[in-house]
Amino acid sequence: MICDNISINEAGHLCFAGQDTVELASQYGTPLYLMDADRIRHNCRTYISAMQQAYGDNFEVIYAGKAASFKQMYRIMAQEGMSVDSVSVGEIFTALSAGFPAEHIHFHGNNKTERDLAFALDQGVGTIVVDNTEELTALNEMAGDKDIKQNILLRLTPGIDTHTYEAVSTGKVDSKFGFAIETGQAEEATKLALSMDGIVLEGFHCHVGSQVFDSDSFVMSATIMLRYIKEIQTKYGYTAKSLDLGGGYGVRYLETDPYMDIRSNILRVADHIKATCKELDLPVPKVMMEPGRSIVADAGMTLYTVGTVKEIPGYKNYVAIDGGMTDNPRYALYESEYTVMAANQANEPCDKVFDLVGRCCESGDIIQPAVSLPRNVQKCDLIAVLTTGAYNYSMSSNYNRFLKPPVVMLEQGESRMVVRRETLDDLIQYDF
Ligand code: LLP
Repeated sequence: MICDNISINEAGHLCFAGQDTVELASQYGTPLYLMDADRIRHNCRTYISAMQQAYGDNFEVIYAGKAASFKQMYRIMAQEGMSVDSVSVGEIFTALSAGFPAEHIHFHGNNKTERDLAFALDQGVGTIVVDNTEELTALNEMAGDKDIKQNILLRLTPGIDTHTYEAVSTGKVDSKFGFAIETGQAEEATKLALSMDGIVLEGFHCHVGSQVFDSDSFVMSATIMLRYIKEIQTKYGYTAKSLDLGGGYGVRYLETDPYMDIRSNILRVADHIKATCKELDLPVPKVMMEPGRSIVADAGMTLYTVGTVKEIPGYKNYVAIDGGMTDNPRYALYESEYTVMAANQANEPCDKVFDLVGRCCESGDIIQPAVSLPRNVQKCDLIAVLTTGAYNYSMSSNYNRFLKPPVVMLEQGESRMVVRRETLDDLIQYDF
């Protein structure tokens, strides 16, 4: 199994976090997002204990809420001592509504409106990760008007091309995010920030990409960022206190995917950071990481019921389920791969190939092409798509006016709905 929270019981049913998925599906209906809270906590603790081992108390682990954002997630993050990264007022509002402390929120985004910034300032958001000059100027003025000194990080692009898919690669010089070091724009922004009364420049942020397995990318970005910090120190006498290396550790969607050992990667990057600081004669900064996917992906599974099986002899076979690109758009967007299982007959040999498709009115509504399932798969069978905890619920939509599934949290042998299933009335609540 790709993760140790997945097993098969004597009845041949797939179990998630020790609970029978067939029973969960009959209790809550399908489509259904399951989240394993124990696994989320385990992943948070892995990061925190590795960071502690690497840096003592001088670190911060910031959960990237874009991976999965709903109130219970923020309660878990608060309990686990995580900070959170929000990219919209909506994510900030969700976190605050769950009682998440504003001072531990980092506000990101490449085009925050003045209304967004005012909201963040009024709510006391701890750190704003400033992306561009317009934002820096607006923020300084607004903070001045409100008599606030706002803590910020400047988002820089270190100019690294990670080996991941284009849509999630963000560290390159030509990225829409942040100030490029190479072009001198980062230095201009740093000078400007240091001259501003409404701003306290805490340090610098970078993020190279997502679903990255190669830890050299993190080592390289740390080197570039530390050299930049040294250059700024030499030129302007300012020593950055913090260095945020962003998120991006890859997770296993398939058995054949590599395994990214979070702890050893953190320790490897830390050794490198300490050695580089020594070489450059810099104090080791407070190191921040912003994982999203690697906190929640393997804590998620989606269950669907088969509606139709279509065989086109000599061509293709389809299994159509009661969800689709509305609850998981990742294959349609990125051709993302997933492991798929027949949850009610998980021990049966998977000896026939099907395209697993949804029920949206669109041929691209594919959850996964060419998956092997038992040849007798039929209406009412239960299908599980594994590793759906990240960027599934958070990217779901109401395309074709399908209703979003609920999120059921599994914890310590219990299950509980933490986001309820949408209703038809929810769909028309904004319509006049
Ligand atoms: N920090 C920043 C500034 C980011 O832009 C991201 C992800 C993260 C942290 C978290 O990265 P993670 O640890 O989750 O890789 N929708 C795409 C992923 C987009 C990622 C965007 N930024 C997907 O479904 O694969």
